[in-house]
Amino acid sequence: MLTVNVDLGDRSYPIAIGAGLFGDKAFAEHVDQALLRQGKIVIVTNDVVAPLYLEKAKSFFAGRDCAEVVLADGEANKTLGAVDSIYEFLLSNKYDRHTTLVALGGGVVGDITGFAAATYLRGIDFVQIPTTLLAQVDSSVGGKTGVNHPLGKNMIGAFYQPRCVIADTDVLSTLPSREIKAGLAEVIKYGLIRDPRFFHWLGEHSAQLVNCDPALMAEVIQTCCRVKAEIVTEDERESGVRALLNLGHTFGHAIETAAGYGTWLHGETVAMGTVMAADLSARIGWIDADDARLVRRILEENFGMTVVPPADITIERYLDLMASDKKTEQGKLRFILLKAIGQGAIASDIEPGQLVATLEAGDRLCE
Ligand code: NAD
Ligand code: GLY
Repeated sequence: MLTVNVDLGDRSYPIAIGAGLFGDKAFAEHVDQALLRQGKIVIVTNDVVAPLYLEKAKSFFAGRDCAEVVLADGEANKTLGAVDSIYEFLLSNKYDRHTTLVALGGGVVGDITGFAAATYLRGIDFVQIPTTLLAQVDSSVGGKTGVNHPLGKNMIGAFYQPRCVIADTDVLSTLPSREIKAGLAEVIKYGLIRDPRFFHWLGEHSAQLVNCDPALMAEVIQTCCRVKAEIVTEDERESGVRALLNLGHTFGHAIETAAGYGTWLHGETVAMGTVMAADLSARIGWIDADDARLVRRILEENFGMTVVPPADITIERYLDLMASDKKTEQGKLRFILLKAIGQGAIASDIEPGQLVATLEAGDRLCE
């Protein structure tokens, strides 16, 4: 088992990563004794993950009073309505402040459950058991929780840290390959913003990674979690460096919202947004054209990702959706761009003409 710690004083917590964690009795006992408070457990999951892993999760918490709430699957259900259904269950069954919620699923379940935990009775404990690659490398770590609003992605939420994160890499064996690729877009992000060697290494090992080679995956997850833990420790509430984790997300969130939640996977729009960010970085002279082309080539050719955004989103729609981005300051759009491969930075004061050129580039991105 590999471990990464998120150091946040009395809210610090471990991320455990490895194969077979679910079936490891000694590890389950350690979690029960050392990481959880006494009290009841409610597992929140969805109707795709429940048939696969709910029984395993329940046996992990054997000995505890353990119930479940099963939500409908999908990004389109990442709503206040889903949070309300968790409140309904907890209130009608009189769950008290000693209850621990367990998020068993991908980023959607994790974000919803974390927000329910942050707000039920003004805050109860929660544990993340991420079951997608994207959730294991990103969404389960760092305490961003929340739901979508029809007018914008992740617009309602709270910073609220889990008690621990348990990333059993065996669960990735049932994940569709489209979801693996979506998770890899967030993996590549870490290399691009912080670690050039990791970025180039990912490019060289793309075939094994797309095939979810178990030996490589645990190491990759550990590297991503280590980078994320460092950044979150430095800037938990995103007043500075944490914004770098949003490389590709300003464009990506706009595409995800414009297309309708669930049309494109979150990670797929991050891949498109990352190539748009590389394109804009080259236009403003931060990176040279060769580096921008390299970013596109690795994502598109090595990993087989779609990198050209849908053609039917107008410039006006992009600008309108991006204006609600959480990084916007006093009406000014801010983007996470690249100063080099492995060096993300915040860019404000982008000339409108350069931004529009990126939005209009389509298949000519990074040319
Ligand atoms: P997801 O939660 O929708 O999961 C993807 C699909 O895989 C779903 O259909 C799910 O039911 C299914 N699934 C989950 N685990 C499975 C398994 N082991 N085997 C088979 N199927 C499985 O999507 P995601 O990509 O995990 O997460 C995307 C969400 O995460 C977005 O809402 C995004 O905004 C959010 N996010 C949050 C953060 C954060 O810091 N909180 C960071 C990145 C992304
Ligand atoms: N995924 C972005 C963040 O956690 O800040």
